[in-house]
Amino acid sequence: MSVLSTLRHPIVAAPMAGGPSTPALAAAVSAAGGLGFLAAGMIDTGRLVADVAEVRARTDRPFGVNLFLPDPGGVDEAAIQAYARRLAPQATERGVSLGAPVGGDDAYPEKLAALLADPVPVVSFVFGLPDRVAVAALRERGTEVWATVTRPAAATAAADLGVDAVVVQGTEAGGHRGGLPDDDDYALLPLLRLVAAGCDLPLVAAGGIVDGPAVAAVLAAGAAAAQLGTAFLRCPEAGSSPMHRAAVASAAPTALTRSFTGKRARGLANDFLRQHDAAAPTGYPQVLHLTRPLLAAARRDGDASVANLWAGQAHPLARDLPAAEVVTEVGAGARAALAAAVERSTRWG
Ligand SMILES: Cc1cc2nc3c(=O)[nH]c(=O)nc-3n(C[C@H](O)[C@H](O)[C@H](O)COP(=O)(O)O)c2cc1C
Repeated sequence: MSVLSTLRHPIVAAPMAGGPSTPALAAAVSAAGGLGFLAAGMIDTGRLVADVAEVRARTDRPFGVNLFLPDPGGVDEAAIQAYARRLAPQATERGVSLGAPVGGDDAYPEKLAALLADPVPVVSFVFGLPDRVAVAALRERGTEVWATVTRPAAATAAADLGVDAVVVQGTEAGGHRGGLPDDDDYALLPLLRLVAAGCDLPLVAAGGIVDGPAVAAVLAAGAAAAQLGTAFLRCPEAGSSPMHRAAVASAAPTALTRSFTGKRARGLANDFLRQHDAAAPTGYPQVLHLTRPLLAAARRDGDASVANLWAGQAHPLARDLPAAEVVTEVGAGARAALAAAVERSTRWG
């Protein structure tokens, strides 16, 4: 039986690396009857182990941990060097040096080993598909395995690997594209229907879902649950910066870009994005390491024209509410929207 069938509300808090996902947020969502998630990307293994312990101390409800898969490599070094030359004057102006554009595996083997040694209820993967050995090893220990896909063929491949559920991420989503390569542009609804047509696994729909009626829409389209990220960014339990919270509350449009990290991600369209988007190369995590000091300085200075401010397309609907209230209000809103749709359907004759 999937963890999904034990939830009181069909709501998963999306893992959000870089600060927003805290143990307090994950625990509050799980305790309220949704499924909370920790983001293991961009932290060290010791911090992951401590975060898992803190969620367990706060709730005995199930929760998940999300792992970044290492990039397969093969980046264009010359293009990354050219991008570094382009950004250098901006870094100098701000009094910082750009970082070294190094690769890396985000300590994936070590984090996976930690989750095998001390299993959690759910592990989800992003940035490609895990290998068969990792899927089998986690499942043997009682951990449910979810894979993130951005194209229909990846869902079929994930099912062949033996995963338990598929996170279907549409292009409306905030943050990085979860598939590899990162250039899929399927909107959530067509992707969900295409995946459902070829895959019997429970589907978790992600991308641009902030309120109850949107959850109702994906449930009607075949999803078992909805994964919401941006909807939780303004919660007091989230680790989002004040600048990020203000950006989410604004009506500014979002765009997809490689300019901040070398992998396409959706964030508020600001000056940095507009200036560098067309010139930005593919290369994650190299470009992430390159821009990191500049973006950190922009955050320190409270400069929203330069900082990366990830958000999904429906971000103006996100509310400043405790996470438990987001879960219960969005859950109730989904039920009400489904009932209203059934009521309207009776008039079709
Ligand atoms: C700030 C932020 C950070 C994110 N970090 C991760 C992550 O670490 N792992 C992951 O699988 N997805 C990550 N995502 C994507 C979410 O899992 C999810 O697909 C997305 O939030 C759904 O769209 P929405 O933000 O419109 O709800 C992130 C999204 C945001 C907004």
